[in-house]
Amino acid sequence: MRNVSKDNITDVFMGYFGDDTDPRLREVMQSLAQHLHAFAKDVNLTHEEWLKGIEFLEAAGQISDETRHEFVLLSDVLGLSSLVDMIHSRSDGTSSSVLGPFHISGAPAMAFGADMKRHYEGEVLLACGRVTDPQGNPIEGAEIDVWQTAPNGLYSSQDEEQDTYSFHGIQTTGPDGRYGFTTVKPVSYTVPTDGPVGDILRATGRHPWRPSHLHYIIKADGFRPLVTEIFPDDDPYLDEDTVFGVRSDLVMKYVERPASEFPEGYELSGKIEDTFLVADFDLKLVPLAS
Ligand code: BEZ
Ligand code: FE
Repeated sequence: MRNVSKDNITDVFMGYFGDDTDPRLREVMQSLAQHLHAFAKDVNLTHEEWLKGIEFLEAAGQISDETRHEFVLLSDVLGLSSLVDMIHSRSDGTSSSVLGPFHISGAPAMAFGADMKRHYEGEVLLACGRVTDPQGNPIEGAEIDVWQTAPNGLYSSQDEEQDTYSFHGIQTTGPDGRYGFTTVKPVSYTVPTDGPVGDILRATGRHPWRPSHLHYIIKADGFRPLVTEIFPDDDPYLDEDTVFGVRSDLVMKYVERPASEFPEGYELSGKIEDTFLVADFDLKLVPLAS
């Protein structure tokens, strides 16, 4: 095609696909081109703006490495990660929420009742509940991969003062589907702002805060894996999470209890002198076949 114009370039692009292109790849690429071309026309994109966009992507690539995932962060602050989550979330299970860039695989096993905070100081939080199917039947042998920031608001991969697996652990549920561990009360924190995504947030007058949360990935044989987070209902950023991760069924209430009510069977049993908080939250998985 030698007479490409702004009116036919999208159709010309569609005609360039080889016959043996994977059909799903064709569908995704064609729709992407349609929307991209329409966007450029819609905003009357200038050369300078186009170049700025290219330079932004280059800068995102340059700052990224195995632990810094600037493109994931870009997707998060644009709402794309959450939109993909919501498109595939099932209403008969616990909602999913963003994975974020700070999960690390290979966390150590954490027995029921373990203390994930170890030597860290802070308000003690007992996180517990059951992993169940949509009907509320307990799921035995479910693996719960948990992670959160230290009290300074940094994940272990962002903080040289922390061990690799600090505030990370994997617990397996027993026959009653129960999980339970202690930690410190999570804090609100900011997403990284020292890269190009931070520049966008500042340029558009947005703050970088996330409401405090605990991250969970739950896996069990025969069930869809669930990537999610839980949030306390009193966090000031609950209604303005910069990565759009909050869903109403993921919001819970901390209950404050006196030390005398701390349960048996935990590493900290008998060692609590002050009040402690409880986050009791059931996690519902959806069967694979449904
Ligand atoms: C997180 O919760 O770990 C997170 C999610 C999205 C962007 C940055 C951090
Ligand atoms: Fe997080």
